[in-house]
Formats: sequence, structure tokens, C-alpha cells
Amino acid sequence: MMPPRNQKRRAAVVRQATSGPDVQTIFDDLLAAFRTVLSGMDSWLVRDAIDRIEWQMSPRTLEAKTLPCLRHLDEINEIAADFARPLVALLCEHPDVLCWGQTYTEKDFSKAFLDNYGWLELFGTRGHFVNEDAAAGLLILGPRILYPDHHHLAEEIYVPLTGGAFWRMGEGPFTMRDAGEVVHHRSNVNHAMRTGDRPLLALYIWRGGPLAAKSTLTGEPAQ
Ligand SMILES: [Fe+2]
Repeated sequence: MMPPRNQKRRAAVVRQATSGPDVQTIFDDLLAAFRTVLSGMDSWLVRDAIDRIEWQMSPRTLEAKTLPCLRHLDEINEIAADFARPLVALLCEHPDVLCWGQTYTEKDFSKAFLDNYGWLELFGTRGHFVNEDAAAGLLILGPRILYPDHHHLAEEIYVPLTGGAFWRMGEGPFTMRDAGEVVHHRSNVNHAMRTGDRPLLALYIWRGGPLAAKSTLTGEPAQ
């Protein structure tokens, strides 16, 4: 069941918004679709995360920002798992209001990586909704991209919404994960991802650490 919307809050934000009178409805719908995806996961870890999140969040007005990686959204829309389709459809329909971001710059990675990488923070310390205790959103990686070993203090939960990418944690091997498989990275444990011929869209949650921290890269970026 969709959570109730705070009509008063929405009206206040609509007055601030510059992208159209219905812009806050889009964000409310995104948050509801995001929560619905999480609620469908058969995972104690995800259930625990859902239960600890304060879902009545205040909106934050952000300037929209697009990234080159969004060119993969059409393909992502074709290959996304059925359970993620309403959420992915909203991403595809509203690039004009969403604030996509990147943590890294050309000091960290090649242009080829940066043109195929980006995230949307739906809520957190800098996302479309204010939350100081957890950050969550969506990550895109284009095809044939290596996101090398990195770590961060915050615990991380990923749910791939497209299958076929390879994930690694610690010193383990890269393992292909299907859409809907929950991937858990404990605090400060190295992890990496590698895509095949298809792009990756993954839902993420960060909690228990600085929520806007830049990851420490320990792996070698691909050239
Ligand atoms: Fe991570």
C-alpha cells in the first residue's frame, strides 16, 4: 500500500519548485515506487533497513542535473526486472527534474568511466528528500565498465534491478548477480563491480557512517 502523502508539505514545495507545478508529485511517486521495490525483497536485511528508515521525509529542492550515463536508461528500461519496472519508468519519464550526481572526477577515473557512471540520491544528506540517518538511491553503470575495489565506513545494501553484472567483496571472486539478489557490503570492506554487455541499474542504501563520504579507492581503474 502506498504511504499517505503529506499534502501540506507538497504544496509548500511546489511553490518553491521551478520545474513545473507537479514536480513534488513526481518525487513522492518515486519514493513510493522505491519503497515498494524494497518491500518486495525477501531479505531480513532489507526488512531491517526499511523498518529503521523514517519514511516521512521533508523534500529538498535540488537543481536538476543530467549525466552522460542516462543514455543507457532506454536499454535499462528494456532489461529491468518486472518488479522494478514502475520505478524505472519514472526515471525514464522525468530526467528534467532529477538531480543525478557523481562522486568521482577525472582525477580518479577516465572519461570513459565518468561517461558511464552516475547515481541519483533519492534521500539522504544531499538527496531529493532529507534524511540524516540513511541515504538511498540508484546507481547506473554502463556496459563493460569496471568499478574497481573501494570501501567506505557506511554499511551498504545493494539490490540490482538489472541482472548480469559481476560483484565482488573482499578477496572473493567476481560473481554474477541476478536482479533482486541482495548484496551486502559491511563497513569498510572492499567491493567492486564489473558490467558485461548490458548496463547495470542498482538500488542502494547507505547507513551507519558518513552518508556523503567519498569512497576510498584501492583497486586500479581500467584505462
Ligand atoms: Fe560501495
